[in-house]
Amino acid sequence: MLRARNRWAVFISGTGSNLNALIDTRSDVDVALVVSTTPKAYGLVRARRAGIPTLILSNPIDWNALQDELVKFNISRIFLAGFMKIVPKTFVEKWESRMFNVHPSLLPAFPGLKSIQRAFEEKKPIGVTVHGVIPEMDAGPHVLQRKVVMGELENFEALEFCVHLSEHRLVRESVRICRREAI
Ligand code: GRF
Repeated sequence: MLRARNRWAVFISGTGSNLNALIDTRSDVDVALVVSTTPKAYGLVRARRAGIPTLILSNPIDWNALQDELVKFNISRIFLAGFMKIVPKTFVEKWESRMFNVHPSLLPAFPGLKSIQRAFEEKKPIGVTVHGVIPEMDAGPHVLQRKVVMGELENFEALEFCVHLSEHRLVRESVRICRREAI
């Protein structure tokens, strides 16, 4: 049986392709709960198909109630996989070293929104980062970071596609690292 330190809650707001990548790791990482900011997130469909319990957050989010639910589900780690809300400092501090985020840029470059587009337009290196979450947005110690190298003829859509594939690989590798190294 998986030890409690592998019980992940995945927080989403949209498509949930990174959630899907995490569901694929279920033989050695337990996705025990999917938390969504919206009932419309397609990621919820993916979670239900995989038989994973889901939780839809109130608006505004009641972070204390969320914390109670996480305790109830015996969650040991959180992965922010396309979660489009700012996580308050008090909540981040509760989950220090146990909450991770995936971001489609070579952080600290291009934090925030439209990162791939901005890096592409400025002709800067493109990539993906998985990092531990600290109270500052899109910052914190890196678990893994990888460049996405493009051929000269590639267009933006092709680039975006490659970045997302790279994200999926990186989130899978990251949860395995967390498990192996008991991060
Ligand atoms: C990903 O690119 C993630 O890095 C960003 O939002 C996107 C979410 O995609 N923060 P998905 O919902 O996992 O498909």
